[in-house]
Amino acid sequence: MSSPSSGEMVFVEHTKGVNGLPKVILREVRGCSAEVYLYGAQVTSWKNEHGEELLFLSSKATFKPPKAIRGGIPICFPQFGVQGSLEQHGFARNRHWMVDPDPPPFLTCSPNKAFIDLILKHSEEDAKIWPHRYEFRLRVTLGPGGDLMMTSRIRNTNTDGKPFMFTFSYHTYFAITDISEVRVEGLETLDYLDYLKNKERFTEQGDAITFEAEVDKAYLSTPTKIAIIDHERKRTYELRKDGLPDAVVWNPWDKKAKATPDFGDNEYKQMLCVEAACVEKPITLKPGEEWRGRQELSAVPSSYCSGQLDPQKALQSS
Ligand code: BG6
Repeated sequence: MSSPSSGEMVFVEHTKGVNGLPKVILREVRGCSAEVYLYGAQVTSWKNEHGEELLFLSSKATFKPPKAIRGGIPICFPQFGVQGSLEQHGFARNRHWMVDPDPPPFLTCSPNKAFIDLILKHSEEDAKIWPHRYEFRLRVTLGPGGDLMMTSRIRNTNTDGKPFMFTFSYHTYFAITDISEVRVEGLETLDYLDYLKNKERFTEQGDAITFEAEVDKAYLSTPTKIAIIDHERKRTYELRKDGLPDAVVWNPWDKKAKATPDFGDNEYKQMLCVEAACVEKPITLKPGEEWRGRQELSAVPSSYCSGQLDPQKALQSS
């Protein structure tokens, strides 16, 4: 039932994952797949047509609410990081989302079949820590070619006339072969806030971004395309984004990995977070207004897009 060779193709399968948590498996005809937990609306797996995993998920991830799942693509909302009164990265990543039975239509019709719509709404409990009414709709789509697309639509449904503000990030953990062999293109020469230096602002120097120590930076006003190049595997991830001006780059390196209970001691070598985000300037929504933020991920052989992602070219082609 589940694979194209064994009969009818099942594009969307509702099932249970670790610890019985509900999850949805998306499949496409060529064999690529993605898995989304309703807990956190978190994508935990994205595989190409060869069955190779493209997202990092820690071997120590607990899948035990209320702890967020370590890896995949957590969603940070309504607060990125610690810049606010909420817990780090807000609460969306540790809430149980629902399948959205009747999402409002998108302006452009897409022929995709492997997608799921999820929704998170305000609750009385959450109103104690964030006193707003909202509807957060997330569509996760696996394209026929294996691209992973995520669209967030967040609406202010306050009835007291009050606007609200939020920061946001798709906290994507890319699976990589070796952090010291990885390069990120598209962020060079940009300004960034260094979270390891009390959010001080610097300008990136050098041709491309490489890694030899802990990094925790929010690049500002970034182009719509960023490339993460895994030299050893000759694979390039392309991240395209819309509505999300910033990009957070994070790797905990050895000390922080060791100090983090749900992170394997050496796993920092096999992951890099590059997060399509809106962190510097919070988004404000008035009642009735909706915000959209989208990211699309592809994984291609490195030769395919080598040299096409310097910031200028990326900006021109977007
Ligand atoms: C990054 C932040 O986005 O997430 C880091 O910039 C943080 O400061 C990291 O350490 C992981 O956060 P958490 O809450 O999932 O451990």
